[in-house]
Amino acid sequence: MWRCRAAIPWRPDEAKLQMKEAEKMGRIFAIMSGKGGVGKSTISAALAECYARRGKKVALLDGDIGLRCADLMLGMQDRVVFDLGDLTEDKCPLDQALVSHPVLPNLSLLAAPQMLRPSDVKAKKMKKIIDTLASRMDVVILDAPAGIGRGLKNLLNAQADSIIVATPDDVSLRDAEKLNALLAQRGEMNAGLIINRVNKKLIRRGEMMAPARIAAYLDMPLMGAIPESGEIYRALLQQKTALQCGDAKVTEAIGHLADRLMGIDTPIHEYYPSAIWKFFHRGGEAQA
Ligand SMILES: Nc1ncnc2c1ncn2[C@@H]1O[C@H](COP(=O)(O)OP(=O)(O)OP(=O)(O)O)[C@@H](O)[C@H]1O
Ligand SMILES: [Mg+2]
Repeated sequence: MWRCRAAIPWRPDEAKLQMKEAEKMGRIFAIMSGKGGVGKSTISAALAECYARRGKKVALLDGDIGLRCADLMLGMQDRVVFDLGDLTEDKCPLDQALVSHPVLPNLSLLAAPQMLRPSDVKAKKMKKIIDTLASRMDVVILDAPAGIGRGLKNLLNAQADSIIVATPDDVSLRDAEKLNALLAQRGEMNAGLIINRVNKKLIRRGEMMAPARIAAYLDMPLMGAIPESGEIYRALLQQKTALQCGDAKVTEAIGHLADRLMGIDTPIHEYYPSAIWKFFHRGGEAQA
């Protein structure tokens, strides 16, 4: 395994950072993707647990209205009585909708409503909720729905740092590029990139593009590269997050991602095609 730094350094949006510091607000990260099923919720839950274990006060907001899942990932489904929908409809105060984790008191969840549609939630109301969370927490993680629909737009009004998750396949990368362009049109020029489900063997065989190359191709700063691991699926069955999945490489990658999001310049593990593959594919390296 090689180590390298991302080609483009990521810096949080200075204006947002200064505003949050002035108003004593915590950091807000919006974890989004163009294509669905790329691992946003897996990464959001693991990051939330990682920061909570580091002693930070964290709120995870499940923004996937109608398709709640963060409660299951954190093993908190039995604790959820009120949700984001109840909050936006003024049926309960924030303290009732915000559920504490059974083991990590620093970690709270705001579950997504099951019966509402994204258009039922007002963007202004959502911004107010996120701002209130940020005023109470060190870190707020927004687990966004896939795509560029209303559900995502509701979250984009918050002063969040945008992080796009993609897997190393063409469809996901094209959608990530499109989402990044949409964010740029809205003035969000600073989105970071996470490449999930990185398969070392496929990269060594030249069958998968390496994360640093993908980031360079998309012209985005690489925030993290999370390995593909069957342990993540097993952890989900046991209602543990990917952080606790038992695969040390996954845990390390999430820890490094958490560092980089906080501005700590941590090297990202990087993979390259094998020397044998390079020897037989001279000139064809663009594939990897
Ligand atoms: N690094 C990984 N290795 C193996 N499996 C993974 C990895 N990351 C995520 N998965 C699996 O991929 C599936 C989809 O993950 P997840 O629900 O987090 O995606 P998502 O982007 O939130 O989906 P959606 O767009 O529907 O919200 C899950 O079964 C999860 O266990
Ligand atoms: Mg999800």
